[in-house]
Amino acid sequence: MQVSTTANAEKFALYQQVCEQLNNLLVNERNMVANAANTAALLKQHLPDLNWVGFYFAEEGELVLGPFQGQVACTRIGFGKGVCGKAAADQKTVIVPDVNKFEGHIACDKASRSEIVVPLLNWGKLRGVLDVDSPILDRFDEDDQEGLESVVAVFMASLVSDDMPDLSEEAAIG
Ligand code: SME
Repeated sequence: MQVSTTANAEKFALYQQVCEQLNNLLVNERNMVANAANTAALLKQHLPDLNWVGFYFAEEGELVLGPFQGQVACTRIGFGKGVCGKAAADQKTVIVPDVNKFEGHIACDKASRSEIVVPLLNWGKLRGVLDVDSPILDRFDEDDQEGLESVVAVFMASLVSDDMPDLSEEAAIG
């Protein structure tokens, strides 16, 4: 119990530090590709035991590869396909403790053993996903989900201007 509590606290502190650094890195830039590239790089640099981290962006009913760190990856994933497509279709974070036990898993990097995918949502509208892979089984838990959802919140916030002009428009479209 003691070990687990300490590990949770350390993980929380790590994600808090990453979110602060990310906010400093993105705060003066609105370009999506630039900010996605730096987000992927920062995560790869600071989170242990990752072999692939990157973005897919929603485009005409499918996910298209964006900035990433890791081996070359498949370019397009249909909604509902693989772990990324499931997170996109359900608009919910998906944690896969063992990719070999996830039916339909798309193996881009053979080293990947576990995976977490967080949707990028703007007022309920899907913009894409953040995909994070590990060579270690069962690498991601609820604390990673909370941490990476916070990272995604910082990334998404960096894309809107100070007076949030298009948020009300998105909200109106639903
Ligand atoms: N494994 C993902 C595909 C993307 S790669 O891991 C980079 C999936 O099943 O959707």
